[in-house]
Amino acid sequence: MRQLAAGNAPRATWFMRRVSTIFREVLVNQIHILETMMPVDFLGFRSKLNPASGFQSSQFREIEFAAGMKEPRLLQFFINEPESLAQLQKRLDSPTLADAFWKLLIDRGFDVPHVIEEDDSEACQKAHAQRVKELRKVYQEPEKYYDIYELAETLVDLDENIALWRMHHVTVVERIIGFKQGTGGSEGVGYLRSTLTKRCFPDLWNVRTMIELP
Ligand code: HEM
Repeated sequence: MRQLAAGNAPRATWFMRRVSTIFREVLVNQIHILETMMPVDFLGFRSKLNPASGFQSSQFREIEFAAGMKEPRLLQFFINEPESLAQLQKRLDSPTLADAFWKLLIDRGFDVPHVIEEDDSEACQKAHAQRVKELRKVYQEPEKYYDIYELAETLVDLDENIALWRMHHVTVVERIIGFKQGTGGSEGVGYLRSTLTKRCFPDLWNVRTMIELP
């Protein structure tokens, strides 16, 4: 984010590559270690975890909030943890990686509007459509805007890696506990599946539909 604020797209790209490698090699791959447990063995200690759950992972929420997926209602799981709560509140109140990316594009002369709040309003939809229109210039002629193109692709890598973690996690969860309710009180697999389409950079995904053969 600091490199983006300084307008240094190549350096930001370099850092994002590191982030993606760590995400993929450490976070996505390690989740499968859990599958080496038999469901019946996991059940042997599952009740002792109750009511703890992944909902209490402040690091996971911090990654989401910092990247651009802010959901204030998720703070409720940290009411008994003042330090985590304060840290997450700070993240909620601070600009995100997505904000930093859009600001860099504005500084480079792109007409990308600021989206104040994500909702179903016409204004919000229009703002996203305008962003996609501007991004299309980059994706249609990558050579012309190569540093921005490369940077944007590393942000898509981050989104893809978070989505991959979610897919691998929910698959492991289904394999171990099936459709049992989560210890954190959610529906379990049903809830986790509903998170699979979350994106920090939806416009960077939507632009692909608009690309045409030159
Ligand atoms: C067999 C092992 C596991 C099971 C059965 C399991 C199950 C679940 C379930 C059912 C949820 C939904 C929340 C709830 O109601 O509890 C959840 C959320 C979550 N779990 Fe796991 N989990 C397992 C392993 C892990 C591991 C190893 C990690 C971290 C490395 C992890 C991290 C998370 C996170 C961060 C969430 C929140 C996801 C979100 O809200 O989008 N889980 N897990």
